[in-house]
Amino acid sequence: MKALTLYDITKSFETAEGRVEVLNAVSLGLEAGQSLALTGESGSGKSTLLHIAAGLEQPDAGRIFVGPEDLTAMGDAGRARLRRGQVGLIFQQFNLIPSLSVAANLGFQARLAGKADDGFVTDLAQRLGLGGLMQRYPEQLSGGQQQRVAIGRCLAARPALVLADEPTGNLDEATGDQVLDLMLQLTAEAGAALLLVTHSPRLAARCDARAHLRAGQLAEAP
Ligand SMILES: Nc1ncnc2c1ncn2[C@@H]1O[C@H](COP(=O)(O)OP(=O)(O)OP(=O)(O)O)[C@@H](O)[C@H]1O
Ligand SMILES: [Mg+2]
Repeated sequence: MKALTLYDITKSFETAEGRVEVLNAVSLGLEAGQSLALTGESGSGKSTLLHIAAGLEQPDAGRIFVGPEDLTAMGDAGRARLRRGQVGLIFQQFNLIPSLSVAANLGFQARLAGKADDGFVTDLAQRLGLGGLMQRYPEQLSGGQQQRVAIGRCLAARPALVLADEPTGNLDEATGDQVLDLMLQLTAEAGAALLLVTHSPRLAARCDARAHLRAGQLAEAP
């Protein structure tokens, strides 16, 4: 079963310097249980593609299916419901909630999805090396610690589709490896799909498949 299908996604932005064409008829399919690494130079459109797949941003043209559901045929409320229940987005800029503790941030998405499970969150926090930080607030954490909270918040909700935007970009190599192990293990156990944006060929090599974004189009990874 397909977890994510993108058909001919086209997206451009109007800026002060004129129109920026970012995605030009990009198509991809991701099976449930599969991991796909997405690489591409800075500015090539990786985050834009992830935000579109999550229904957070609208393409100019093209269609998006999460599982069998057509995001492009839904209104804002439908997209929000689907995202809450099935899609986990790990933002490049983390987007933690500053007024909530680490523990509350970790459980936030799961509660929204109606899948709150304190035992699972505690176990996840331990495995992410956050066990001793549960009562802190995001501003009291290092960049890599905040990044691990963002990963934990996503995984705690056990989404069918994980969209991870350079989730190990702030981590040292060894910690990044451990975190990717955890992401691959949990998504495999749950039969979930993982779309992983990374600049690391080493991490990309550990996914089931690879794609490279260049000049608005997807190609086989170099
Ligand atoms: N809201 C926006 N308005 C105008 N231009 C935008 C907007 N968002 C992104 N862009 C432009 O679209 C292009 C793709 O941006 P995007 O963030 O998707 O790149 P990226 O591949 O994720 O890069 P990085 O590796 O640096 O994170 C860039 O040229 C960027 O300047
Ligand atoms: Mg990006």
